[in-house]
Amino acid sequence: MRTTKEIQDEINRLKKEKDFCILVHAYQAHSIVEIADFTGDSYGLSVQAAKVPEKNVIMCGVRFMAETVKVLSPEKNVYLANPTAGCPMAEQMDIPILKGLQAKYPGYETVAYINTTTELKTICDTIVTSSSADKIIGNIENDKILFVPDPNLGGWIAKRHPDKDFKFFNGGCPTHMRMRKEDVLKAKAEHPDALFLVHPECRAEVVELADYVGSTTGIMAFAKESNAKEFIIGTESSIVEHLQYECPEKTFYPLSVDLICNNMKMTTLVDVLNTMNGTGGEEITLPDETIKAAKKSIDRMIALGG
Ligand code: 13P
Ligand code: SF4
Repeated sequence: MRTTKEIQDEINRLKKEKDFCILVHAYQAHSIVEIADFTGDSYGLSVQAAKVPEKNVIMCGVRFMAETVKVLSPEKNVYLANPTAGCPMAEQMDIPILKGLQAKYPGYETVAYINTTTELKTICDTIVTSSSADKIIGNIENDKILFVPDPNLGGWIAKRHPDKDFKFFNGGCPTHMRMRKEDVLKAKAEHPDALFLVHPECRAEVVELADYVGSTTGIMAFAKESNAKEFIIGTESSIVEHLQYECPEKTFYPLSVDLICNNMKMTTLVDVLNTMNGTGGEEITLPDETIKAAKKSIDRMIALGG
């Protein structure tokens, strides 16, 4: 049996030999982050996807992320390292549901969280991520916003833009929605000196108690720059792991042991190796017209997000 280091060395050798770039979402395990060419939040990954020089790109994350890479770099061979890794939130809404809401709210700009299928993106005006939503909503002229599918992220943004009228869908991230006010009060009682950093996919009752609200990258940057020594992390458990590696002099506590996204945890180093060797992973293929239509809303995100 090979060690983790031996598999990582083999992946790094194949990257050069076969012209692969490996994009890794911050919720992946530390051993995957170690072989990444770029690690980041959904916005950072999208910006990176549009300018990857390599011919082959592997996404270690969930399906909508690999699809976004394909939309932004259709000439590349794009692979999802573990084909079973999906995002339950992205599957919550299909075209008929969204068309129904658009008919109910005429004149509203459809703003979709990037955690949606590529097909759904074809009928959206603008895509946002957790780190770019605030700026993008501020840059949209229309004061009527239909925000889908996450009402928690949407609700947090709406509070920052009281001049706009928001309509929501009843979706959300099943991992972050598990957290309740009681979990925060318990963690704060156990670690009274810790700052509480939270992802806006959590419920409003949780977000209201935070010292900082932001994307995965935002949370990590805040923790690294802060003078505080202890932090309660209100997002997926991998962020606790990465921060503890990067800031050994500080202490990071998960808000709850239940804050684990099983989909994000599916990808292994062997999946990456098998993808490079053509014995695993899935090459992403999308109809040309789907790529063209979805690209409009994703390009608008990058243009408005800066
Ligand atoms: P960000 O990395 O953009 O904060 O997104 C979190 C997430 O849930 C991705 O699925
Ligand atoms: Fe989807 Fe939530 Fe997992 Fe992110 S953490 S991939 S939103 S289920």
